[in-house]
Amino acid sequence: MEAKIVVLGGDGIGPEITNVAVSLLRAVAHKFGHTFHFDEQLIGGIAIDKTGSALPDATLAACKDASAVLLGAVGGPKWDDPAAKVRPEQGLLAIRKGLGLYANLRPVRGSSKLLGASPLKREVVEGVDLLVVRELTGGLYFGKREEATGSGPDASAYDTMIYTGQEIRRVLELGVKLAAGRRKKVTSVDKANVLASSRLWRKIATEIIAENPGIEFEHQLVDSCAMRLVTNPKSFDVIVTENMFGDILSDEAAVLTGSLGMLPSASLGTGTMGLYEPIHGSAPDIAGQGIANPLGTVLSAAMLLRHSLNLEAEAAAIEAAADKVLEEGHLTRDLGGTATTQEMEVALLRAL
Ligand code: IPM
Ligand code: MG
Repeated sequence: MEAKIVVLGGDGIGPEITNVAVSLLRAVAHKFGHTFHFDEQLIGGIAIDKTGSALPDATLAACKDASAVLLGAVGGPKWDDPAAKVRPEQGLLAIRKGLGLYANLRPVRGSSKLLGASPLKREVVEGVDLLVVRELTGGLYFGKREEATGSGPDASAYDTMIYTGQEIRRVLELGVKLAAGRRKKVTSVDKANVLASSRLWRKIATEIIAENPGIEFEHQLVDSCAMRLVTNPKSFDVIVTENMFGDILSDEAAVLTGSLGMLPSASLGTGTMGLYEPIHGSAPDIAGQGIANPLGTVLSAAMLLRHSLNLEAEAAAIEAAADKVLEEGHLTRDLGGTATTQEMEVALLRAL
């Protein structure tokens, strides 16, 4: 098949890790007889420096014309001024919204080789296989907000957590659909004992339970869900939750795999077009040193093949290569090893 893939390296370690993922995608194309066209575009801090905008029009236009988007990371100390009008993170939020990517899939699956890298006990993390489905274009991230002027006792600022029934329903329905292909269990996470938006969420989740008798369904409050994630993570299959709860819970869930550097994600909308990125950030502290863990991005590329291009065997080939590399003991520093990004790339290509 032929496909156009936009590559947004972004800031910090972003370009280093997307380069590895692109080289794996090229190798897959060669091995399976596909033609992938890669189109590099700007996003984040580097886009601000070059164009004044965190998401230039040309980038969004290129993405709309592509089969899928592979993204590294955005942000860094250079653009961290809290008073700044333009921030790299705005690029990320704008591209999610601009492409209508309302669901963010964050699978968490431990590798047996990495059990020791998690601070949690082996018996807690061994066999974990869960999927966080995070609502991505609503809630606090996109509700009306007002910045404070000043910081005195009278200064005030607010953000709004707002959801419509349609926004809640479509992401929960996607969670149910994904659960149907897994262990058929959905945990809907909210804070319905306090928040009105969560009570609407729970009402709709309850309707969806009635519509899907084949799925085991439960409601859980976000605070106790956070605790259960580290005490009994194996009890989860698919977790569906609103934007900010999902942001926080998915970082927490990353601990289960041993490193934030391992986790891929897919952001999807109604069509097959999707955006794929590791869940970690731009790691400015190690940028440019060639030691970043490329696996979160490489596994995101596998998700791209699966969800946007419907290439299951190709996706599985990349995932198998990632497993093999870990089995062989190639570990970057975040995983307790000394392998460089380039050594990982070589080992991945060889495994593939
Ligand atoms: C993520 C990140 C982003 C988010 C930031 C960088 C805006 O933490 O993708 O999880 O909060 O969505
Ligand atoms: Mg996050």
